[in-house]
Amino acid sequence: MKAEGEPLPNGFVGRSPRILQIRNQIAKLAPRRSPVLIQGESGTGKEVAARSLYNAAPRGHFVPIDCGSLVGTMMESELFGHVRGAFTGAHEAKRGLIELANGGTAFFDEIGELPLELQVKLLRVLQEQELRPLGSLHRIKIEVRVIAATNRDLKREVAAGRFREDLFHRLNVVRLTLPPLRERKEDIPLLIERFFERAGGRFSLSHEATQSIMDYDWPGNIRELMNCLERMMSFDSGPLLHFADLPTEVANYARSRSAVGFVSSAAVGGGRSVSVAAPVLAQHGIVPLQELERRAIQHALQHTRGDRTIAAHMLGIGRTTLYRKLKEYQLESGEMQLHN
Ligand SMILES: Nc1ncnc2c1ncn2[C@@H]1O[C@H](COP(=O)(O)OP(=O)(O)OP(=O)(O)O)[C@@H](O)[C@H]1O
Ligand SMILES: [Mg+2]
Repeated sequence: MKAEGEPLPNGFVGRSPRILQIRNQIAKLAPRRSPVLIQGESGTGKEVAARSLYNAAPRGHFVPIDCGSLVGTMMESELFGHVRGAFTGAHEAKRGLIELANGGTAFFDEIGELPLELQVKLLRVLQEQELRPLGSLHRIKIEVRVIAATNRDLKREVAAGRFREDLFHRLNVVRLTLPPLRERKEDIPLLIERFFERAGGRFSLSHEATQSIMDYDWPGNIRELMNCLERMMSFDSGPLLHFADLPTEVANYARSRSAVGFVSSAAVGGGRSVSVAAPVLAQHGIVPLQELERRAIQHALQHTRGDRTIAAHMLGIGRTTLYRKLKEYQLESGEMQLHN
């Protein structure tokens, strides 16, 4: 058994209660052959979790099947294989991905993208535990462990008629739900530490940069955090990375939070606003009032996901005033949208 908080062999890092729970579930599920459905937002580590499930008790091969890229007429033969001459251009026989996973694990990534007609065929293979390659007269016995991942709400997809209910129930035997990074921010320092360790141990983050990273809500989750650190390192401005090295969206978020803190303190505190705002401003340097106003508007729009009526209400101004200011600060385009 691995010590708590230690990464699994392929680096499933985290020691928050929710991650520890998932690591326990993975350890228990790994030797079993029942299907597992992994759900989670983009970048939360669904593939890492699937590989951990396989690596903790490896049998046969781990075959990733990217359902989102299975397009066009070839997808059926990609999945199920074909014999020579099965269709025009089939000069050679080809084994399908499911057959390659025989005796091991087939990882159906983005299963929600699988077209309905292939969902039917996949269900049949899973139920009958055999498949017939295109053009073949013979059936092949199939014994695969199925892991499926999705960032969609499959129940909703079923309700909308985009995903077959029978396949959903077949896959949904055990479900692992990966939490978004913003709900387990306590893992961020460890993720950063492990990332820098892997990068050779030369880099570290200033206190202020770490704080901004902790504040940000990471819509792209761990993938976005890894990309952020990668980008910061690539500037090679020195082993200690500062606030100034942060990607714009992370820095802007931190600035807009302190700006909004200032603006709302000023609105509430009236004459006392200077004393409330001073420490905040001292931390980031003096910012022109117009800039603070621009950031406050931007932040409100981010918060309301672009709803101008609610944003205006939150800012304590009328909608017409907000429209005028949007024009004035050239915030009418995609700049105010969340970047996810
Ligand atoms: N627990 C973790 N510890 C360390 N690194 C992780 C962890 N989870 C994810 N990562 C890293 O984050 C990135 C995204 O992980 P992964 O590809 O598994 O996410 P995903 O949920 O499949 O994303 P997508 O929905 O975009 O396909 C990878 O670089 C991966 O190495
Ligand atoms: Mg993935």
